[in-house]
Order: sequence, then C-alpha cells, then structure tokens
Amino acid sequence: MTRSMEKIVALCKRRGFIFQNSEIYGGQNGFWDYGPLGTELKRNVRDAWYHDMISAHNELIKPDGAPSNYQMVGVETALIMHPQVWKCSGHYDLFHDMMVDCRETKARHRLDQVRIRKVSFEGESVEQEDGSRLDSVYVSTMSDEDFEAELTSEALRAFGKKKKYADRLQWDGDATTLDRIPESDFNIVVGPGATKAGTLTSPREFNLMMKTVIGALGTDDDAAFLRPETAQGIFVNFKNVVDSCRVKLPFGICQVGKSFRNEITPRNFTFRSREFEQMEIEFFCRPDQSAGWYTYWRDRRYEWYQKLGISADRLILRDHHAEELAHYSVGTADIEYAFPFLDDGEFGELEGVAHRGDFDLRSHMEGKLARDAAGELAVEQNEHGQPRHRGSGKDLSYFDDQARERFIPHVIEPSAGADRATLAFLCEAYEEDEQPDDKGNMQSRTVMKFHPRLAPIKAAVFPLIKKEGMPEKAAEIFGELKAAGLSCQYEQQGAIGKRYRRQDEIGTPYCITVDGDTASDGTVTLRDRDSTEQIRVKVADVVQEISERLNS
Ligand code: GAP
Repeated sequence: MTRSMEKIVALCKRRGFIFQNSEIYGGQNGFWDYGPLGTELKRNVRDAWYHDMISAHNELIKPDGAPSNYQMVGVETALIMHPQVWKCSGHYDLFHDMMVDCRETKARHRLDQVRIRKVSFEGESVEQEDGSRLDSVYVSTMSDEDFEAELTSEALRAFGKKKKYADRLQWDGDATTLDRIPESDFNIVVGPGATKAGTLTSPREFNLMMKTVIGALGTDDDAAFLRPETAQGIFVNFKNVVDSCRVKLPFGICQVGKSFRNEITPRNFTFRSREFEQMEIEFFCRPDQSAGWYTYWRDRRYEWYQKLGISADRLILRDHHAEELAHYSVGTADIEYAFPFLDDGEFGELEGVAHRGDFDLRSHMEGKLARDAAGELAVEQNEHGQPRHRGSGKDLSYFDDQARERFIPHVIEPSAGADRATLAFLCEAYEEDEQPDDKGNMQSRTVMKFHPRLAPIKAAVFPLIKKEGMPEKAAEIFGELKAAGLSCQYEQQGAIGKRYRRQDEIGTPYCITVDGDTASDGTVTLRDRDSTEQIRVKVADVVQEISERLNS
C-alpha cells in the first residue's frame, strides 16, 4: 500500500480537509485552514479527547492501576497573558531554537533540521564563498523523507555531475545534522539549496514566542506574547480552581486551545505550524505519588491513540534521555507516530507526557527557578542577588486536610497537539485497495478508514435514481439522521458505484441507498465502508442501526 505524504496532502486539498492559509495571496507559511471536512474531523478529535479525559471521566470509579480516585475539570484561558508569566515559566529566557542564515540563498534554517553528510568526488572540487576550492564538503538537505537519496542528488549537484555518476561519490561517515558538527566546520558546508560552501552564518538563538502589542501607544512597555502553550493558563489559575471548585488532590485541570510559535522552518504539512492547537492536562498530585501518576498518564495516553485506530506498529512510547529533558522536567516520555514524511523506522512526536515536579507553581510563586551548581532547582538570581524574574509572591501551595500537611503539588503533564493528532489520524486512515464495481470489475479505490468516532461524515444517503419517490424517501431518512445529531450527506448525482467511491475517499463509514425495493418492502441498503458488505435494513430502524454501529 502506497501511503505517501504527497497523496495525503493532495486528498486533503481535493476533498476539503485542509487548505494552505491565504492561498489566493500565495499562502502564509506555517499557517493552515481547515475546510468543512477537516473542521469536522478536528472537532471530533478534540471532542473525543475532552469526552474521554474530562466529561465522561467518573471520579467515583477507581481507574485501573491508578493510585486513587481523581477529578478532572476544564478551563479556557486567554491567549495573551501578563508578560511576567513567560519570564517565570522560562519561555522568555529559554524557549529558543538555534538557527543559521544562508548568505547565498537568504534562507533561514533550524540547525537540528539540516541533514548533512560529508562527501568528495575523485578529482573534483566545490567552490567556497571566497573563491577557493574544496575537495571534500558537507552537502545538505532539509528533507526528512528519503533524505539519503536527497543527499546523493545534492552531492551530484554540488560537484556538477549527472545521476549516472552517483556510485563514484565517496562518502565520509554517516548522515548527521548541522547541530552535531563544530561551528569551525561550517565553512565546508554547502547549505540547503546553495551552490557554494561556507555561506552559512554562525548559529544564533531565536526566541519562538510571537510578539504582539497591546493598546494604542505601541511602546516597548506594551509588548506582549501570544501564548506558546496553553499550560501556563492552567498554572496561574491553580489557586482559583482550588478555591472555587472544591477540588481535592489529586486532580487534573485541562485546556484545549490555540498556541503560537514562531517556528523558524515550519514544515511537513501541519506537523510543525506557527499557529496550532493544544490539548493539555496539568495533573496535580502529592509529590510522593507523582512517580505512579506519571506512569499512569503515560500509558493511558499511549492507549488512547490506539483505541481511536492508530496501529501499534506505527506508535511508540519513547522515554527521553537525561540530556533531552526540558529545564523543568524530572522525566518525560514522547508518544511518537511513524508519519509518512519520515524515513522507515523514524517517528515524530504526537504528544509529550512530562513529570514537571513543582517547577511551575514554585516559579510563579517565588520567581523563575533554575538549576544551581549542585543541580538543585532554586530561584535564579541576578548580579544583585535578587530573583532574576520575580514571581507573583502569591501562595500557590496546597493544604492537604487529611494529612494535615501543606506542600506544593507536583505536576504530570500530558500535552497533546490537536493538529498533530488530526494529521496522524489522517495519515493512519489513508488506504488504497481494489474493490469490484457495479459490473464486478476490480477497481482501485482510496479509502479513509477513520475510526467511526472521528469520521467527519457518519453516513451518506442516496436515492438509486432521481424518480419513483426515491429522492423523497432518501431526504426523509437524511432528515432523521440529522435530527439524531449525526453529520451526514445527501447525494443523488452519478452512478451509485461512483457515489460510494466519493464517500470512501472522505471516510464515511456507512452509506444508505434507497432503491426499487424500498417502496415495496420498506428496507434500504446499508453499506459498510471497510468491508463494502451490503445488508438490508428496515427504514424505521436505520437511524438506530447506524447509531449503534457508531458506538460499538
Ligand atoms: N506544555 C508543554 C508543551 O507545550 P511541547 O512538546 O512543546 O510541550 C506539546 O508541545 C505538543 O504540542 C506537541 O507534542 C505537539 O503535538 C504540539 N505542538 C508543539 N509545537 C507544535 C507546532 N509547531 N505545530 C503543531 N503542533 C505542535
């Protein structure tokens, strides 16, 4: 089965799932618009998350393997917050990527996204920026998919050779990324798309927060940031929720909403965008129970994707190495998916589950924390021995009235991306197969095998022909499905086989056809998307039959 990103992106545009933002003006890089079907799909992803994590969560039932019962509540906080929030959270000082500019192509690249490999070609050389020539250079590509092949074609381009000479390239070492070689070697790198070596600048830090201005004056004092994560809206409201909602530890506060990051090189469709939506849980618990809760959430979130149809072969749970951990994190695991834009065996992050300790609440209380010489988290000080970034000074501790103890809760954070999850569900659903047409001839079809909970359209209703009362009966069934709250489509144009194919391509699990027998025996054909099996169902039972199948 050929599941390529190119085909998935084309289908998304063709069928109205996802469009390039501002396309008629040439597009705005890193921003995407969801079309009618994409909107339904993403809403279903979000709703499934909110339903499974919050509204359907029953705190009276002890969850399997969990240390105790717990409550889950939601908040919806503003996109813009007090600038001090980002100073204490660490985003102001630490939320940056390393980037380089290319003097030749004028492009800007994230260091860890430039794939490079050292190469030479017997007797040939590549020009350096200063006019001198080099026998051996690093060639580069920004591609994730088939990057080895891309590097080969870049090497041939650099040495001015045709494809047939590929086996005369002499590779020195394996492919790596630009952040893994010393800066002194940058002078022998041919940057992505460049023709000469040594045109990349020294690496620089680039803060990923998007700046905006509040109010009419527009001075530096009015600068603010669009939130780069929804999590901080939860931390700064921790006390409000405890005081107003009578929640008791352990409990989770959840939020779904937009976040913004000035990604240097947004790419791979919606995977890395500048505006995206997150679905985050901050789970507050006693420090002595936090290790158990961390494992609980990590495993639960991993299972959630599988329950919604992601195959275990394409999903991994990867514990971070110590050097990968964020400044606040005591332990983190990523849930990763084998996106088709990656090479075989490579996975991309879908969700991070982090043990954040008491970093966030303490920072917002006392001032930004950092690790001291002994490796302990302590309030970071400036040259005058004062907090580098002042906290709120508010008491964000929790009083456990059963244990008669006051402490700062620890936090486990399962942080998912709604757009990334939607992309993974799109990629997972894509299949091509062969099915017999009306005359029994095998025809290839593209079918989006979404989990029924996620499918944007749950059922399509067709009159077989546009007469003999069939359109009227079909419209009646359509109305009943709609009244039951099911998103559905009505289609009467084209051969029935073509109508099935069109619905398969958008992942509609069930098609209902009103035909010649409907008037006499009161039944319709119900066709299943995946098996293409057709059964007869009574018109009076069709809504219930579909609802039951969707919920099974
Ligand atoms: N509060 C923790 C946090 O924000 P993160 O790993 O930076 O952690 C969490 O982001 C999730 O948000 C990621 O696993 C991913 O699903 C999504 N995400 C992050 N950056 C994104 C981007 N530029 N485009 C799309 N989704 C993104």
